[in-house]
Amino acid sequence: MVEFALPKKSRVVEGKTFHANGNLKNPKRFFVYRYDPDKEENPSVDSFQIDLDSCGPMVLDALLKIKDEIDSSLTLRRSCREGICGSCAMNIDGRNTLACLKPISECKENVKIYPLPHLPVVKDLVPDVNHVYAQLNSIEPWMKSDTPPPASEERKQSPKEREKLDGLWECILCFCCSTSCPSYWWNGDRYLGPAVLLQAARWINDSRDEALGERLDQLEDPFKLYRCHTIMNCTNACPKGLNPAKAIASIKSKMVERLG
Ligand code: SF4
Ligand code: SF4
Ligand code: FES
Repeated sequence: MVEFALPKKSRVVEGKTFHANGNLKNPKRFFVYRYDPDKEENPSVDSFQIDLDSCGPMVLDALLKIKDEIDSSLTLRRSCREGICGSCAMNIDGRNTLACLKPISECKENVKIYPLPHLPVVKDLVPDVNHVYAQLNSIEPWMKSDTPPPASEERKQSPKEREKLDGLWECILCFCCSTSCPSYWWNGDRYLGPAVLLQAARWINDSRDEALGERLDQLEDPFKLYRCHTIMNCTNACPKGLNPAKAIASIKSKMVERLG
């Protein structure tokens, strides 16, 4: 008889519980995913209690307070603390978002914090983004032009041409969208996913770029582009209010347009 078993280290178990000392005026509990690849243990969820009266307003503030005051081994990425670098993306109360932009006041009573879903975990809240960055590299996210720029001048765009980049240039590559897309969960090895396709759209729509045909040829593939089924999870997840589903639809329109 065939026996099915979960892969090693795939079951998440209850972890340690940390109680704050003294009388807390404004206590709040955070349940945080922990995984250490150097240990033989399963991943776990640790529970930390902190006093919100001595904590900043955002979930990232709470995580840094936990790291500074309770468990310095807690591992997470962050840099700008203002929604610009995209590095603090994680799953908070079941939604992918940026910890630095998520107010604790908008969280549930017990806040649950996990790494971005469906990516391998390096440690604790740090996902492995090598694959998504390799996919980004594959669309060649830089301007390609054989025409030299005008002498001692920049390459100019009209306001109308520049407007076409709005809703695209603002992407901070946090990958909240790709990791909330069911198509990307199941076909992420070959489907490029909403974040990378939005970047592709950013160059496809740039009037200064001269590689439109080449870029579309590169995306004309049953998996890379057409695994998007307009489920819209990506757009609902984007913490910058962008619309990757619309960007993907614009690439599909360009594919149809060039058929004449
Ligand atoms: S619209 Fe496309 S990219 Fe966005 S979640 Fe749905 S399938 Fe994924
Ligand atoms: S489109 Fe939004 S969610 Fe997706 S990577 Fe860019 S900023 Fe993040
Ligand atoms: S720390 Fe840079 S986006 Fe959150």
